[in-house]
Amino acid sequence: MTPMQEDLDRVLFDEPTILRRLDELARDITAEYEGRELTVIAVLNGSFIFMADLLRRIPLPLKLDCLSVASYYGEAATTGEVVFKQIALPDVAGRHILILDDILDSGVTLAAIRDKLKTERPLSVKICVLLRKLKPRLRPVEADHVGFNIGDEFVVGYGLDYMERYRNLPCIGVLREDKLAQAHRPCSGLTIGEGKVI
Ligand code: IMP
Ligand code: MG
Repeated sequence: MTPMQEDLDRVLFDEPTILRRLDELARDITAEYEGRELTVIAVLNGSFIFMADLLRRIPLPLKLDCLSVASYYGEAATTGEVVFKQIALPDVAGRHILILDDILDSGVTLAAIRDKLKTERPLSVKICVLLRKLKPRLRPVEADHVGFNIGDEFVVGYGLDYMERYRNLPCIGVLREDKLAQAHRPCSGLTIGEGKVI
């Protein structure tokens, strides 16, 4: 067992399981967007491995853009603040947009991104997440394509981090309680910031 794996309470999905599910997701997405102008917008950093593995399974002439937002700041609970790190948004006008993200948790991040992109007149905006936590959302947002549903636990690996660590773990697992410096707690007040460094 590697030192990173020792920090896990248990593995939820190993690499072959993830990749088998990506085959299915890719088939669904390919069928849905066949013959349409698809732009995928991946939310960095958490979706980088998911993006690379999923997009190579989609044989469509899609365009790819990345958005960098931050909503966690290295803690295990969201602050409720979403910061867009770049000045210019991807060109989405007149295109079908599929947002790719690692995980739908409180929904604050994806709701902010979806609402922001919708102001740029896309033809459609849908959301694909690798993981969806089964819990109430703080913002009304749902995913159209989901890799796996999970409980309300803090997971790492396959792109997901805890304080920027564990992203390169090939599996997805629940982080051991004693490795979480701060308890995973739901956030309360919501403010959506823009281009602001906090
Ligand atoms: P939100 O609460 O839905 O806005 O999620 C915001 C971001 O928090 C996600 O894109 C992830 O980067 C991060 N996040 C939420 N839950 C987890 C988790 O269980 N492990 C690692 N990152 C998480
Ligand atoms: Mg994160």
